[in-house]
Amino acid sequence: MNKDFRVVKKCRICKSSKLYKFLDLNKMPIPNGFRKKEDLNKKEHKYELGCFFCENCSLVQLTIVVNPEIMFKNYLYFSALSKVMMNNFSSLAHEAYLAENLDENSLVCDIGSNDGSLLKFFKSYDSKIVGIDPAENIAKIAELSGIPTEVEYFNSISAKKIRKKYGLADVITATNVIAHTDNLYEVFKGVDILLKKDGVFITEFPYLVDLIDKLEFDTIYHEHLSYFSLKPWNLLVEKCGFEICDIRRLAIHGGSIRITHRRKNRNLKNPAKKTLEFLLDLEEKKGLSKKETYDEFSLKINKLKEELLTLLRSLKKDGKKIVGYGAAAKGNVLTNFFGIDTKILDFIVDATPYKQGLFTPGMKIPVYAENRLLKKMPDYAIILAWNFANEIMEKQETFSAKGGRFIIPLPEIKII
Ligand code: TMP
Repeated sequence: MNKDFRVVKKCRICKSSKLYKFLDLNKMPIPNGFRKKEDLNKKEHKYELGCFFCENCSLVQLTIVVNPEIMFKNYLYFSALSKVMMNNFSSLAHEAYLAENLDENSLVCDIGSNDGSLLKFFKSYDSKIVGIDPAENIAKIAELSGIPTEVEYFNSISAKKIRKKYGLADVITATNVIAHTDNLYEVFKGVDILLKKDGVFITEFPYLVDLIDKLEFDTIYHEHLSYFSLKPWNLLVEKCGFEICDIRRLAIHGGSIRITHRRKNRNLKNPAKKTLEFLLDLEEKKGLSKKETYDEFSLKINKLKEELLTLLRSLKKDGKKIVGYGAAAKGNVLTNFFGIDTKILDFIVDATPYKQGLFTPGMKIPVYAENRLLKKMPDYAIILAWNFANEIMEKQETFSAKGGRFIIPLPEIKII
């Protein structure tokens, strides 16, 4: 294995080598690799960004795995910045609290706990909590706000350490982190080690049905190793001795899915059986187990590229000023793949203090605080963090009131 990345040869779930490459977004830097001004002339590492479809189990996965140390050691993603995300975490914690009868003796462990945003809600229900996250910088912030955090990747080894220190967990959560994990069997091994006999494992990740339906190609990047539908996910769950006992679709992040799992128990009736069958059927109808669906998806991306570039170039020709809104990783994928640089976007505004003052990877677009939008009053702001479009447009009503227009790039271009 190369030190920086590993080439995927077999499906992460079913181990088949029948992998069909349907997407090539070219080589690009890791999309959370924001850069300091003084480093802009230094060489930037670029990694292939492409996707396989497993012809055996239908898992969609990246063609390479970049060394996680490169991506996650110093991470610039903070959950707490979005109201929508906080509401989602609040509902997850509330549902789990009710369903699992949590009390002050219960333990909740969160894998990929980030700044502790989800665990704060569990803490408010008096449960004992512990976060697990490899990003040292963010774990420090979580600790400072009273969320005990173990700086670790979650696997069977760290699970044993955590069990020894904190005991068995009633609930283990993992939101938007499973797609980041190469060895999914190790995650379930860890869950098996750390979870009480009748405890639950709740996970959330973007749903492939939404990704394909809404052309969310820019959510495909090095951090996200897998793009799950329920067909391969359920195969994994069963192989690991668990079963899905609740599923719901969520609007968050362009369309996600929240799945609750428990250890397989033949004596208990499975309450999620019908929903699972319904969604597996939906996936089949959407063509998620056919190569052609993915070929069509790739064609649509190239069409969108042409349309968006035509629009932006014609606006520039008319002397319009355009900026970006949200220096999201997905925005960096879109700008890099489409070749949108500072000739088109003057700058990007973003609420994340750590991103402000830095430059986007690849396209080197400067990132500023959100108040620069009204200060500079460009004609157009393209919402690169389109998953938060409503939240952003509500927040920036004054921009619209003063005649500024928002462009939403996906699934088809909208000017608002
Ligand atoms: P994400 O889609 O990967 O979660 O990234 C969203 C980005 O958008 C993140 O960098 C924060 C930024 N953002 C704002 O700048 N303003 C906002 O109001 C919201 C909700 C997000």
